[in-house]
Amino acid sequence: MRIIPEIRAFEDDLVAWRRDLHAHPELAYRENRTAGLVAERLRGWGIEVDRGLADTGVVGTLTRGDGPTIGLRADMDALPLEESNTFAHRSQHPGRMHACGHDGHTTMLLGAARYLAGHGDFSGTVRFIFQPAEEAAGGAKRMLDEGLLTRFPVDAVFGMHNWPGLPAGRFAARVGPMLASLDTFDIRIAGHGAHGAAPQEGVDPVAAAAQVITAVQTIVSRNVDPLKSAVISVTRIHGGDADNVIPPEVSLGGGIRSFDPEVRALLCRRLEEVVEGVCASLGANGTVEFTARYPAVINAAESTSLALKTAAAVAGEANVNAETDPVMVSEDFAYLLDASTGCFMLIGNGAGEGGCMIHNPGYDFNDDILTLGATYWARLAQNFLRKRGG
Ligand code: NI
Repeated sequence: MRIIPEIRAFEDDLVAWRRDLHAHPELAYRENRTAGLVAERLRGWGIEVDRGLADTGVVGTLTRGDGPTIGLRADMDALPLEESNTFAHRSQHPGRMHACGHDGHTTMLLGAARYLAGHGDFSGTVRFIFQPAEEAAGGAKRMLDEGLLTRFPVDAVFGMHNWPGLPAGRFAARVGPMLASLDTFDIRIAGHGAHGAAPQEGVDPVAAAAQVITAVQTIVSRNVDPLKSAVISVTRIHGGDADNVIPPEVSLGGGIRSFDPEVRALLCRRLEEVVEGVCASLGANGTVEFTARYPAVINAAESTSLALKTAAAVAGEANVNAETDPVMVSEDFAYLLDASTGCFMLIGNGAGEGGCMIHNPGYDFNDDILTLGATYWARLAQNFLRKRGG
């Protein structure tokens, strides 16, 4: 590990900040305390601060002479989850928890900002982007809609997420698709209610729903190219209130994930056809409404190469997986990559207590990787903004 000595020297501060954020988790668009602390620290190091994008977003800008601009992004929000940990820095707010490590992400980027603010060995601009509402609420999209990249342009933007199961001290990324796109859907099946004893007098939406769910399983297995990846999961079903009444309507919902825009379009088109066709064959009326949630995270070749080289210089070649498998989860950093170019990197959080995955009540960010993550950010900015001839 080549941790920057100045960052190693303030490691105790990083751990204290991270634990303080962990103890005070805030949900989407309510990251007021967190954003206040972030802004105050950035200003304290002489970094220009703009607040208010997407309510609680914070953008820090640090310029040293002429050159390109790099964006480094961290997320700040917590999850509506009851923490099961009992350590001293556990959540002080019932029903809220930093179960995805955004407390660590915020702290690592603050560490890099503190170091870079004190060291002039780059030429250009660093933008420190602290976004609200990564979890399900699309904070990155709102920051973009409110002018993030027009008011604060960047030449490339980089993101990082801790990954439990990946050993601490390791990095992983890949060129091309890295995380999946997500569309959610609502299916409405309208039939005709009747007495449970007289189905011939109605149109049963429950029976239609059962056939729809089964038929939907053929879309990935029969319509998608077997060499491409896709998931359709029906995760919710509601209908009926009584044992002797055929209800008039059933609703279903779930999500569609893929990496390829053509596959994504195919999945949506086929879902609509299957729902409408199966329902029509049974005399019911099936409709589908989609909500586009996230594009896929697609890492650009040039940015990813720089990010991987930086990670290898910091953590050692053997600790960098440059061809990690893509994962089917989604990230709203995808919106930033869609609007600009860049790379999303995974940093190992270690096996964790009992191999605890993110979004789990026993999860905790690993403080041992704070200086590593901060060093990666700082070196990435320096490499991107290397002084010409220097
Ligand atoms: Ni997360």
